[in-house]
Amino acid sequence: MLSIENAKKLIEELKEREIILGRKPETWFTYENHIMGVANVAKKIASKIDGMNIGEVYVSAMLHDICRTEEDRKQRFHGILGYEKLKDIDEKSARSALLHMFPWNKLPEYEKCSKMFFYKQEDYDFVADFIKKHETTDEDLLIQLADSLANKDGIVTLEQRAKEYSERHGVELPQEVIEPRYKLKSYFDIKAGCEIYSLLQNSYNEQLKQDKER
Ligand SMILES: [Fe+2]
Repeated sequence: MLSIENAKKLIEELKEREIILGRKPETWFTYENHIMGVANVAKKIASKIDGMNIGEVYVSAMLHDICRTEEDRKQRFHGILGYEKLKDIDEKSARSALLHMFPWNKLPEYEKCSKMFFYKQEDYDFVADFIKKHETTDEDLLIQLADSLANKDGIVTLEQRAKEYSERHGVELPQEVIEPRYKLKSYFDIKAGCEIYSLLQNSYNEQLKQDKER
């Protein structure tokens, strides 16, 4: 497993590379708000569940989008790129990168998701084969939920994300997208023995305070 220090180093290196490639440094906070939001959500939930390795979950969450910014340039699904980058240094983080976009490790049919995620059939086949060969773990599910609970501003609720989507696109977020995520939340409400949003309440309040100060 990668240490938190080393995971942070990978993110720093990514930031430096992106800036060389033309990213404006003052926009980097949107990426950081997301990944650190996901990491903090995952950590808070993991700390309520017996047997979860909080450090491991935190690192995996932090790195799940390590190749997100490369997707367009390389024309390949960022989950695959992340998996390839991490597989020899941290197997669990590599796995989270690969599976984080597919709630309950369920892959839609190729025709349905090729436009959204996959540029190549062989990448789709790789994910499908990986899912077939590996049993779903709570860590997979936790990163999938946490990824839905943080956006470019930081930690948000599923309801806020759905609202943002409909405001931006003028249509409701499709049921097949939102439904599995609500199910993930219910699953972890039970596992954690409390309502997940109540664990995140302080984070919402902190963010509201920061927003007001901005
Ligand atoms: Fe993400």
